[in-house]
Amino acid sequence: MSQPLRLDRLPRTVELERDGDGRACFAYVDQRLLPGGLSVARTHDWRVVVRAIETLAVRGAPAIGVAGAAAVAVWACNEGASEAASHGCAEQGSRFWELLESIAERIAGARPTAVNLAWGVGRVATLAREVLREGALPSEVAESLFSQVKRMEVEDEAANRAIGLHGAALLPEGARILTHCNAGSLATVFYGTALGVVYAAAERGGIERVYADETRPVGQGARLSVWELSRAGVPTTLICDGMAASLMAKGQVDAVIVGADRIAANGDVANKIGTYGVAVLAAEHNVPFYVAAPTSTIDFSISDGSLIPIEERDPSEVLPCPIEGVNVWNPAFDVTPARYVSRIVTERGVFLPHELAE
Ligand code: MRU
Repeated sequence: MSQPLRLDRLPRTVELERDGDGRACFAYVDQRLLPGGLSVARTHDWRVVVRAIETLAVRGAPAIGVAGAAAVAVWACNEGASEAASHGCAEQGSRFWELLESIAERIAGARPTAVNLAWGVGRVATLAREVLREGALPSEVAESLFSQVKRMEVEDEAANRAIGLHGAALLPEGARILTHCNAGSLATVFYGTALGVVYAAAERGGIERVYADETRPVGQGARLSVWELSRAGVPTTLICDGMAASLMAKGQVDAVIVGADRIAANGDVANKIGTYGVAVLAAEHNVPFYVAAPTSTIDFSISDGSLIPIEERDPSEVLPCPIEGVNVWNPAFDVTPARYVSRIVTERGVFLPHELAE
């Protein structure tokens, strides 16, 4: 790579902040507006955070995990503690928990496939239950949740940087990488998983080029990956999804690296629709297929990929103007069988798919 890596040009994707008046505020890059404009939106309302997740303003498994946890903290700090307090001293703890449980369920249900969302919400809900049991007031619980989300933000970046180092060690010098969807900094708090591997390799000059599939229908590759890669100074080529086979056939891909929304215990991987096809192509062309994801993406309660719930999204994402008599099928994710996955890279190291459960 001839130009230096410029990670300082990438924004933090999601961040929980404290306003001057003490209210909790969720700041997020509105990814619907990229690549046209970089805009950071702010809200004090957990419902707006849920809507941001549903509409893909905030997207990517690790980012929605932290955003979901932040939504609970925003509710607790800005509404929950005062609402519970209005029920009198004796009742406030149980009322707070009752409200938190139903709000947490609503937030965790915003998108079904990425297990990180339920994981993030579950992490703050578990903490709330523990500190309530110790006798904390709802206002004190709210403070604990705020601090917990700030810790999750730090942990996310640290995990991504560790994934990056482990993954970079798998790549040859001057690697040409193909990626699908956006598993970059924009899909996390900062740095990214699949693109984290690219950044770690690029830092030591080891990346010749990244090919980004456009990733129909929402264009996370065309709109987001190429935006962040080029902004960071990584040589980037955008291709249509249907071009990956020809690129591999010409010998121009040394490795495929993608992220994941949920990994089953047997190593089957749910990721953005189209990933499965790329994995089959990689196997056909003897190109290694790497999945980079934090351990929070592994769902050991699910034995194989057939049990992963796949989100179906609005037909208008595929067919903006309805045509009479035409139906649209729009699954947002697919499942790549473990046999196509060369290695899974987590913050704890590099694994063969079957080693996850060992
Ligand atoms: O629908 P999206 O944009 O949330 O889908 C995102 C993906 O499929 C990513 O590849 C995955 O979440 C991994 S992000 C590090």
